[in-house]
Amino acid sequence: MTDASSGSGGFPLVRPRRLRRTPAVRRLVAETRLHPADLILPLFVREGAAEPIPISSMPGVVQHTRDTLRKAAHEAVSLGVGGLMLFGIPSAKDACGTAGTDPDGILQVALRDVASEVGDATVIMSDLCLDEFTDHGHCGVLREDGTVDNDATLARYAEMAIVQAEAGAHMLGPSGMMDGQVGHVRRALDAAGHTDTSILAYSAKYASGFYGPFREAVESTLQGDRMTYQQDPANADESLREVLLDIAEGADMVMVKPAMSYLDIVRRIADEVHVPVAAYQVSGEYAMVEAAAANGWIDRDRVIMETLTSIRRAGASSILTYWATEAARKLH
Ligand code: PBG
Repeated sequence: MTDASSGSGGFPLVRPRRLRRTPAVRRLVAETRLHPADLILPLFVREGAAEPIPISSMPGVVQHTRDTLRKAAHEAVSLGVGGLMLFGIPSAKDACGTAGTDPDGILQVALRDVASEVGDATVIMSDLCLDEFTDHGHCGVLREDGTVDNDATLARYAEMAIVQAEAGAHMLGPSGMMDGQVGHVRRALDAAGHTDTSILAYSAKYASGFYGPFREAVESTLQGDRMTYQQDPANADESLREVLLDIAEGADMVMVKPAMSYLDIVRRIADEVHVPVAAYQVSGEYAMVEAAAANGWIDRDRVIMETLTSIRRAGASSILTYWATEAARKLH
């Protein structure tokens, strides 16, 4: 018996292994390439910190001081990292997250520091959400019954957007999953003359257990969960609806979050929309790899690059990852 795929003696005529034989040929035919410019580094800055404060559930990640934040930003930029996403941890939190809209609040101060350190050499981004600033830990302001008040929260986001843009953020990342947040922020920015400030919308953000270590990172006091505003992990079509709404409301880029358990969502969105798609490899994804590697169960460096490659392969044009600086160094 012979067919098109069998050669003499029934051995294969077509041998896919020929293109896997040497590093050179594998490199030639690689379908996915990682580049430092694809990576966005999330950074935490803690008001009043005199020394960087380690985050125990994220080994290797710290809450920066203003000074070490500048150094970390400089290092990332010198390695060609595509963007920096800043998160601020204030020394005092309250019910409406006042520190988030204070022009001298820690996030705004840090944005000014980073802008003066690296200028336009990378894209400076800021998390636009109230949870780091509220004493109840929710992403918005609460009604008397304890539920999150969508429209009152939008007004707070509009104020935050303006102070962040004025502090030097090039791109804002609304991450609170309130309905209408992108349009509301876009209109507020435009009305204040910030028509050039762009929006990276956390469009498809799931209510995920993978954010666990982040709660330590931002000293969150959240009781309960975010199921009434973040998406149900069971849903996929809903992500498309969220993404299309955000694009209609003026989002310049959209994001899927977390990344690895949601690569099907990344692929669908990348196939269906024509704006850049980012994916956020979140704290729990980082922590799992670090913990397994620390136990000697997996090869850390290999797995880090494999995770990043798989997120790119799924269709993400940018990846937020706590390994951005390290991965950029490896890529050089
Ligand atoms: C909200 C926000 C969160 C993360 C990024 N922005 C927390 C949440 O939605 O509960 C999580 C990031 C991570 O886990 O690495 N400001």
